Amino acid sequence: MVQNKKLVQWVDEMAALCKPEKVHWCDGSDEEFNQMVKLLIQGGTGVKLNDKKRPNSFLFRSDPKDVARVEDRTFICSERKEDAGPTNNWMDPNEMKKKLTGLFDGSMVGRNLYVIPFSMGPLGSKISQIGVELTDSPYVVINMKIMTRMGKEVLEVLKDGAFVPCLHSVGYPLDGGKKDITWPCNETKYIVHFPEDKSIWSYGSGYGGNALLGKKCFSLRIASLMARDEGWLAEHMLILGITSPEGKKLYFAAAFPSACGKTNLAMLQPSLPGWKIETVGDDIAWMKFGSDGRLYAINPEYGFFGVAPGTSMQSNPNALLTLNENALFTNTALTDDGDIWWEGMTDEKPKHLIDWKGNDWTPDKDYPSSHPNSRFTAYAKQCPVIDPDWENPEGVPISAIIFGGRRASFIPLVYEAFNWQHGTFIGSTQSSETTAAAAHQVGQLRNDPFAMLAFCGYNMGDYFAHWLKIGKSVSADKLPKVFCANWFRKSADGKFLWPGYGENIRVLKWMFERVEGKNNFAESPIGNIPGEGALDVSSLGMPENEIQELFKIDKEAGMKEVERIREYYKIFGSDLPKELTEELNALEKRLK
Ligand code: GTP
Ligand code: SPV
Ligand code: MN
Repeated sequence: MVQNKKLVQWVDEMAALCKPEKVHWCDGSDEEFNQMVKLLIQGGTGVKLNDKKRPNSFLFRSDPKDVARVEDRTFICSERKEDAGPTNNWMDPNEMKKKLTGLFDGSMVGRNLYVIPFSMGPLGSKISQIGVELTDSPYVVINMKIMTRMGKEVLEVLKDGAFVPCLHSVGYPLDGGKKDITWPCNETKYIVHFPEDKSIWSYGSGYGGNALLGKKCFSLRIASLMARDEGWLAEHMLILGITSPEGKKLYFAAAFPSACGKTNLAMLQPSLPGWKIETVGDDIAWMKFGSDGRLYAINPEYGFFGVAPGTSMQSNPNALLTLNENALFTNTALTDDGDIWWEGMTDEKPKHLIDWKGNDWTPDKDYPSSHPNSRFTAYAKQCPVIDPDWENPEGVPISAIIFGGRRASFIPLVYEAFNWQHGTFIGSTQSSETTAAAAHQVGQLRNDPFAMLAFCGYNMGDYFAHWLKIGKSVSADKLPKVFCANWFRKSADGKFLWPGYGENIRVLKWMFERVEGKNNFAESPIGNIPGEGALDVSSLGMPENEIQELFKIDKEAGMKEVERIREYYKIFGSDLPKELTEELNALEKRLK
């Protein structure tokens, strides 16, 4: 018996609307997981991988038109349009509810409706939040089991408390005797958030953040609203622990846009001897002030939903080791011996594969075997470098916040903000070349403030103001230092200048020393950069001129950047905090 009356009533109402054949309350057990997997294999959606190579692991192939988040179909339906702001799609909530009610009406005919109670954050912790996702996708059920704490224990904690209702349908009813297909979805897609009732409705897609509603929809878009109202931060950030050779440990958080290196940095295998990195989270951070006035971060997730291509024993061994068992793969290639492969996993390509669309593939093909946004789903606890405090309900104290993105030019390898307000300015001006993580053209430079463009649940101008307010709520010495990093600067011939991955420890080391108060910096117009000899490039074998290239600040390009930001800021109108315009003017002055 489920004791939460509101929940029971909502499930009844939604079942009456969606008209599933059956309602199944998920208990989160392994038996249930196996039962779902069996269904998915029977239906041709998934295949079991070779148990000897990768126990209890499965590969799924999606519809080629349902492979990533759909930002142009994502809506924030606040009562007032101004509250969604200039960066979000908006529609009147009543109009949208009418539209969605029409779409959901009968959307689950011939299918099961699965009720998934889930907790974002450790079960029962003060800072955790509970949601309930209703879905007609068994693929969503098994992914939610790995990505969240899910099942009957959540109901025991929820009792008759409040939860975020999350309704999801792939939008492919089996009416009129229609037969199922391997990846049901709908050409019409809506990923919708209602800020006033804090509810989520997602229709038409079965993939990633469109369908696993605890992730971007709840833990960022809805949670950012809660954070604004309650004085905390919900951010698109990894959280890592860094220990120096002397045994001193700090925690950093970093916001990079989708597919710009969060998972890689969170699990980094340092190339410098004596340094250690441990992972708290790879995608989302909730940060709240502790009683000592410092910001403490928790990772609300339970697993990783990471980009597969490019992950190798060289680039990110800890991610690969996390995937040794109990892992799900979506849209990667299948090897002849029943294992997975993707571009960049090994130097040598296998001689034959089944590609992500289910066709034969050989290395002479001029297209990749795995989709560029193919992903793995794996339990965080399986990561060999998972931090001992990753489930600490108090969170971990954050000493530095890093902003970054893919910038082929201008932005140096690393620089430091002068203070919190300047750091907020840097976050607000973040921009990055687009990736395959969302359905749009790849490689276009676009503004992506705080890596939250697609994830902020309210007016981005107000979000900037919230960051400034956070900075004023405690004394400056309690706040994390703010940095900007760019692993992706290119030389004139289009090659990455910086080796990246495990070598990024060199940049983290400099940040660590700055947090510790070492004065090894030089001023530049955009911020503080490492001083002479301060960036440890020992045994890297990089020529001096290339290192200089990484830090070159071209004044003309800087003035263009100022103009670009000035133009961008216009969209916020009077919602843009004046402090940010002041920072922009000050930057312009320093560049002149
Ligand atoms: P989301 O899960 O979409 O939020 O992505 P993410 O930010 O966690 O990105 P991830 O770490 O998965 O990296 C995305 C891609 O960038 C992968 O193909 C990586 O191989 C590549 N990448 C990550 N770090 C580096 C780096 O330091 N240098 C270079 N050149 N590429 C990197
Ligand atoms: C991202 O796109 O930033 C992701 C993947 O982390 S998804 O869950 O699809 O949003
Ligand atoms: Mn992400």
